[in-house]
Parts: sequence; structure tokens; C-alpha cells
Amino acid sequence: MATHRPLYVAIATMTLTMASAAMAADYPSRPITLVVPFAAGGPTDVVARSLGAELGKELKQPIVVENRTGAGGTVAAAHVANAQPDGYTYLIHHNGMATAPALYSSLKYDPLKSFEYVGEVVDVPMTLLARKDFPPNNMAEFIEYAKANADKINLANAGPGAVSQLCGSLLQQALGLKFTTIPYQGTGPAMTALLGSQVDVLCDQTTQTIPHIQAGNVKFYGVTTKDRISKLPDAPTLNEQGLKDFDVKVWHGIYAPKGTPAQDVAVFNNALKTALNSPAFKQKMADLGAEIVSEERQTPESLQNWVQSEINKWTPVLKAEGINVN
Ligand code: MLT
Repeated sequence: MATHRPLYVAIATMTLTMASAAMAADYPSRPITLVVPFAAGGPTDVVARSLGAELGKELKQPIVVENRTGAGGTVAAAHVANAQPDGYTYLIHHNGMATAPALYSSLKYDPLKSFEYVGEVVDVPMTLLARKDFPPNNMAEFIEYAKANADKINLANAGPGAVSQLCGSLLQQALGLKFTTIPYQGTGPAMTALLGSQVDVLCDQTTQTIPHIQAGNVKFYGVTTKDRISKLPDAPTLNEQGLKDFDVKVWHGIYAPKGTPAQDVAVFNNALKTALNSPAFKQKMADLGAEIVSEERQTPESLQNWVQSEINKWTPVLKAEGINVN
């Protein structure tokens, strides 16, 4: 018997290899869910739906976008971390993946252990806006007004873990002022509140704000990146308007639950690379001021390293600020 063992092992290994090759060839055989941690219609949702359309063409299965809002993106991340690792649930998330550990002491997932990384997607600058009937007309006037009226200013955001909250916090820190913050389930509804003059100020991604800036629906004080952006070349940065070294950029990545088969992640990653290269997605992102990440960043390894480096960067900053949600 013992002499036949290598043969059995070889046959078993071959059968397994053939079975997993067949499974990989079959994948995906049904619709895939892409979970978005913020409200429909907002900037993350815009990227997810545009990308989902291209991924769907490539994978030959519909990509169903599911908005799971709450707790600055952590509800959605916990949901995906605990979903079946069967290749049919993915998460798109931004900087919040790396800032949440410093903000929430009872996170139900670990950004470094609970996911398979798929790849990075786009970088998006942010813009500082105010309601159209807010008195200051530019950044210099806003700074002067804010110094005299800080206790009257309402700043909308999407809760701790959201980039609107990060940007708003850094703004208050840079000005040495405290405003009243009003959290929403995403900056989609926060923008609706701004347009309805229910809040005064919002820091939000160009993927939502450019159409409103161009239509003159809001007052626009500047961009949050260190350098000016090509989509709004005449718009000054906050950095050049006195907020020294102000530099906030949003990065988006795709994740799967830990344990998702490596071959499924590889199939999804290939589809992601093709989608990021598609003329329709490129055009849409260019129109909205977003930049598709370089080829090297479209990989699982790059996203994993980036999340780690962003956790290292932001944890001390946010802890020093003392914002902590249980
Ligand atoms: C959204 O999609 O609503 C935003 O990304 C929320 C945020 O500010 O992080």
C-alpha cells in the first residue's frame, strides 16, 4: 500500500488543481456586491458606480452597489470583514480604512488583518465650500469671518472616519478655532444640506463638488491638496492662502473579506486594471478632477503597504487631537 502513496498524492493534487482551475474559470458565475460605506449619490458612490459599470462588463456579471452607511464608514467595513469570503462581496473604501483605528476604540475589524487587498483605484482632491449665501466670498474673508464668528459656524461632515471630517478637523486645527460639526450619512446628504443653506461649510471631494462649483451653486474657497489641480487651475490651494502645509487627498482602494480565494481576488484585480484603463472611466474621473492611480498602485501589495503607512501617519495625529468614538 505504502508504495502507492505518492501516486495517490499526485492524483489527489492533480484533481484539486483541476478543480480549482475549473472554479477559477467559472468565477464569477453570479452578481457581485460592491459595498459603499457612504450614502448614495455622494463622492464614493460616484466612483463605485462608474467603476462598477466597467467591472461588470469585464467580469460579465452585474456589480451590485450596496450603500451601507454609518459610523464614518466603519459599519460597511465591519460588514465586509465578516461577510462570506466567497469572492462575491467587495468593499470600496478610502482614507477611513486607515484613520478609523485611531478614532474608534471598539472597531469590529482590523484593517491589516481582516481583508484581502485587491488594489488602489483613484486619488481625489478635496475642496472647501460654503453655502451660496454665506457672507465670506473668498478664503481671506472666510478666515476673518471665522475668527469673529466661530461659535456660529456649522461645518457638515460624514462623521469620524470620513474624509470630510478629517479635512474639517485639520481646517479647525490650522485656524485654531472650533466650529459646530453636523454629521450626515455621507457627503451626498451633507451637500444637499449645504445647497439648502441648512449648514454653512463643507470640505468635500471634487468627484461631487466640481459640478456645483462650475454651476455657481456654492462659494468655493480653495483646494485642499498641496499643489493646484489641473481640473481647476485657477483655484488657489488652502496652503497658498495661509494654511501652511495643508495637504489632504483622498485615496480609494478595494478590499475583500479575509479568506477570499486568491484566484478570485486575482480575477477581480485583473478586471480592476482593465476598468481603470477604460476610456469611459478615465473620462468620467478626469471630468471630476480624480486621478486614476498608476499601474504599480493597482496591486494588492501596494494597497496593503499604503494602508499600513497611512495608519502610521495618521494614528499619532488623530490621537493627539483626542477625538475618540467608542
Ligand atoms: C461620501 O462618499 O459620502 C464621502 O466619501 C464621505 C466622506 O467625507 O468621507
